Amino acid sequence: MTKIDIIAGARPNFMKIGPIIHAILKYNETAAEKIDYRLIHTGQHYDKKMSEDFFEQLNIPKPHLNLGVGSGTQATQTANIMMRYEEAVKESKPELCIVVGDVTSTMACSIVAKKEGVKVAHVEGGIRSGDEGMPEEINRMVTDSITDYFFTTSAVANKNLEFLGHKPEKVFFVGNTMIDSLLGNLERLQQPAIWRENNLKEKEYLVMTLHRPSNVDAMEDLRKLLEIINTNVDNKKVVFPMHPRTKKMYDQLGMNFENLLITGPMSYLEFIYLVKNALGMITDSGGITEETTVLGVPCMTLRNSTERPETVTIGTNEIVGTNPVNIMPYLNMLISGKWKQGGIPELWDGKTADRIVKIVAGL
Ligand code: UD1
Repeated sequence: MTKIDIIAGARPNFMKIGPIIHAILKYNETAAEKIDYRLIHTGQHYDKKMSEDFFEQLNIPKPHLNLGVGSGTQATQTANIMMRYEEAVKESKPELCIVVGDVTSTMACSIVAKKEGVKVAHVEGGIRSGDEGMPEEINRMVTDSITDYFFTTSAVANKNLEFLGHKPEKVFFVGNTMIDSLLGNLERLQQPAIWRENNLKEKEYLVMTLHRPSNVDAMEDLRKLLEIINTNVDNKKVVFPMHPRTKKMYDQLGMNFENLLITGPMSYLEFIYLVKNALGMITDSGGITEETTVLGVPCMTLRNSTERPETVTIGTNEIVGTNPVNIMPYLNMLISGKWKQGGIPELWDGKTADRIVKIVAGL
């Protein structure tokens, strides 16, 4: 029996762990030596719409343990996760801890595991934006520096790890589990109420998500950005499901924009329905640029860098930057139908979790 912990903490983790758990359950049906997994939710995201709904829609079994850490400063959140996960590790003594992505929970749990003598596997290891002003970049750097097994999404990640001196036998190029979730759920997508209420039509509206401090924490910049978007979309509607952090700032702004359709965080199946049928996407997320690449939907990233360069070189993504005026030529390009055609990166084929589980079983 191989004993492993799987860590999930924040919204973008859930679509990455779901396929791994399903692959473990499938593997255990026939394997002589089964994988005994324990799913641990750190509680970093705790709103129903940011967490529980994803478990339900993606058929992810209930976590065995919820550390219930909640929000806080980077240090408070990290410290709370570490203290609570340390107890959980001491109690169960897993052989391997699987962390995914780049959120605070990823870094905090990898440090605890490593110090307790538990091997660490990092799913989505090796990617870098080069922007150390983002907490996610620090999380990636710290996690990768103590990772024993890297499960990578791209050739660029493999190169980064090689450059950092990691031995090739520790690096497994497997593809993208987020895309496993995407491809596995395309038949199950759900039309959200906002579609009917606003009479939305395929390829005639945009979707936008913003939650990075660089875009939403300065009120004046946020106002300018929303005004520019509102007036440069040819009167098309922009569906804007808001992260709680963004909502706080938006409420203080106290303004209305006639082309923006504001809504709360959306469930996975409804959100992907909207993205798949959209004319284009505006975002500061990293994961969404992978999904739009696979769906072939034009995407504008409101950041100065990306840790997922293949979404630009191969996919439909463009790096717009954080200066609000930068977006105008990109919106023009989209509206006039001149966006580039994209392709799909290697191994983003929906079978990544099976590859990971096969490797984990053989470790
Ligand atoms: C985290 C990740 C980020 C990811 C994002 C997706 C880190 C460093 N960042 O950022 O990479 O793109 O999740 O959503 O881990 N809040 C709620 N309810 C919740 C969760 C958060 O109201 O369920 C509010 C709280 O006011 C909290 C704030 O959102 O202080 C920020 O949450 P936090 O978990 O610190 O980071 P995110 O900005 O969500």
